[in-house]
Amino acid sequence: MNEIKFINVGYKDAENEILKGITMEIPAGYIHTIIGPSGAGKSTLIKLVNRLIDPTEGRILIDNTDIRDINIIELRRRIGMVFQQAYLFDGSVADNIKYGPMLKGINNIDVKHYLDIVGLDASYMNRKVDDLSGGEAQRISIARALANEPEVLLLDEPTSALDPASTQIIEDLIMNLKDKLKLTIVWITHNMEQAKRVGDYTIFINNGCLVEYGVTKEFFANPKSEISKLFIDGKLTKGEVA
Ligand SMILES: Nc1ncnc2c1ncn2[C@@H]1O[C@H](COP(=O)(O)OP(=O)(O)OP(=O)(O)O)[C@@H](O)[C@H]1O
Ligand SMILES: [Mg+2]
Repeated sequence: MNEIKFINVGYKDAENEILKGITMEIPAGYIHTIIGPSGAGKSTLIKLVNRLIDPTEGRILIDNTDIRDINIIELRRRIGMVFQQAYLFDGSVADNIKYGPMLKGINNIDVKHYLDIVGLDASYMNRKVDDLSGGEAQRISIARALANEPEVLLLDEPTSALDPASTQIIEDLIMNLKDKLKLTIVWITHNMEQAKRVGDYTIFINNGCLVEYGVTKEFFANPKSEISKLFIDGKLTKGEVA
């Protein structure tokens, strides 16, 4: 189980209300894609889940426990995150994959196993991360997140900097992870074709509000809200429609 619940979640900074009254349940074991115009609040929403920021209103629960009641290191172990640009530190591939477990005192993880999961052979172990292609580096970022044995994976546009072939590899890899490891996956994308391909459910955010949440096929075939229709048709940008 690794179900995520948002209860009336809001996030404000000094000037702006960035997220407003988000209430939704993300059931365990599926891929949820988050879509919405640039600036809608998608990245802010997922940053709340592993407490890179905290809500200014409402609560977020994982398996019915408020995430503020979970030790933050434990929370971030349980919830892996992958960003648009591969997030790696200088050093070898193996150093990067070993890092998370090392923080917990585990020094003997099987690096090859995690390389294998992301479809890279053992020769990558000693490669310097600076020498990797964007697609390879993104696969190492995923391997690094997986080495913590997370239950939830948050993906913030993980393929938007990649070419179509690398995008396909990452999509297949993540879909495979969902099936094999039963991870709960929340995936932000601007690519509607990708959202249709990978998502079991679609979450549409506009102007900091949850507009629509539905089974992906139904959302795209028959969006319930006028704003969703405009967005799918490429006719909505931030702020145009409240
Ligand atoms: N640290 C911050 N300080 C002030 N404003 C911020 C901060 N981070 C985000 N914002 C603002 O909050 C709003 C939502 O930003 P967010 O990054 O969540 O959007 P997004 O939906 O992920 O957009 P994109 O698709 O372009 O990545 C934007 O108006 C942005 O300018
Ligand atoms: Mg974003």
